[in-house]
Amino acid sequence: MRPYELIKAKRDGQRLAPEDIRAFIEAYTSGQVPDYQMSALCMAVFFRGLDSVELSAWAQAMLRSGEVVDLSDTPGVKVDKHSTGGVGDKVSVSLAPLAAACGVPVPMISGRGLGHTGGTVDKLLSIPGFRMDVPVPEYRRLVREVGCCLISQTEAIAPADKKLYALRDVTATVDCIPLIASSIMSKKLAEGIDALVLDVKVGSGAFMKKVEDARTLARTMIGIGAEMGRKVTALLTDMNQPLGRAVGNALEIVEAVEMLHGRAPADYTEATMALTAEMLVLGRKAASIAEARSMLEKVIADGSAVRKLKEIVQAQGGDPRAIDDYTRLPQARSTVDVVLASQDGFVTVIDTEAVGLAAVALGAGRQRVDSLIDPAVGFTLLRKEGESVKAGEPVVRVHYNDPAPLEEVKARLTRAYQFGPQAPAPRPLVIERLE
Ligand code: URA
Repeated sequence: MRPYELIKAKRDGQRLAPEDIRAFIEAYTSGQVPDYQMSALCMAVFFRGLDSVELSAWAQAMLRSGEVVDLSDTPGVKVDKHSTGGVGDKVSVSLAPLAAACGVPVPMISGRGLGHTGGTVDKLLSIPGFRMDVPVPEYRRLVREVGCCLISQTEAIAPADKKLYALRDVTATVDCIPLIASSIMSKKLAEGIDALVLDVKVGSGAFMKKVEDARTLARTMIGIGAEMGRKVTALLTDMNQPLGRAVGNALEIVEAVEMLHGRAPADYTEATMALTAEMLVLGRKAASIAEARSMLEKVIADGSAVRKLKEIVQAQGGDPRAIDDYTRLPQARSTVDVVLASQDGFVTVIDTEAVGLAAVALGAGRQRVDSLIDPAVGFTLLRKEGESVKAGEPVVRVHYNDPAPLEEVKARLTRAYQFGPQAPAPRPLVIERLE
């Protein structure tokens, strides 16, 4: 079927044949199908969906668009974690060294920021010298020797997703269950894992705003994993406010290192502990979640988690001194405190997608495929949901270099925050576990 006919068929709600899906994705990866036709097909999928046969063909075609890495020369159960995306979500930066410090080999392919959400690649690249475009042989060696390697999507592994991810980011086709599920599972299955923990975010800062949709997404990904013989566990976690207090690439690296010292905000610490504990159980290093948590507490307390992070940074060409001395990370020239509380009382709501879009407007994320980001800029949330405020007190610190977007950023943040006389009821961070 010609690309035009395939797009039209999906637009009109028809079921696509697996071989047509495969051919389209292959042709897109090799450049024969242009971005505009892939954008149109993604938009048609956004409205019409993919059934389970189409989805399986789509995910397999993306997986097979590059090399499927064989990590069998690394002993042990190789386990990774992937988040569906949030704001202030720096979990991978602390989780990877924690799991590796406990002996679980962690091969991890991460993404750049997507839409209003931040990406682990952008965060890690704020560490001076850190390389994520690691060739496959070196990636395999680092997983074997260091116990972890964090890479970006390359031309070698799931290149279809690399192209598609950037395209979806700027064509409003991200928040679509079959496209998210195939994007995540194709690259995760290609990186050589035995098992996977999924962090499926739910709430105002997530692509899935409703628990039912997050559950469907989790089940879809668990199903793709099962088809490929991989054990997948999912936690649905709350994303109704940014995770932790830092939003912005270098700022989030600092908070992640603080987590490894046991000094991070409670919600971010809990997300990291809950997800890493799942990895330790899947990796057969702990018999139960309780045992896994006490192992994690030990590697935090004895400093081995931070040492592992430094080892990873050094092995990937980064400056490990930045992990001890934060002034070696990019620093914004100026700060300004904004969003004045409208009354004495509490922060009741933070529209987290709006905070993410404010971060993009500030330069922490991309507005176009080829936008350059500023690793130093971002926000410190001086007050989070449920915390008390005095009228007129600022609740967000903006770290900036270029003052040009400040007015827009302030306006977006101001619209994001709501205040009230009573603290909202606390919500659990982990909403549900699926496997
Ligand atoms: N994360 C991914 O890797 N892909 C998506 O499509 C969304 C979040």
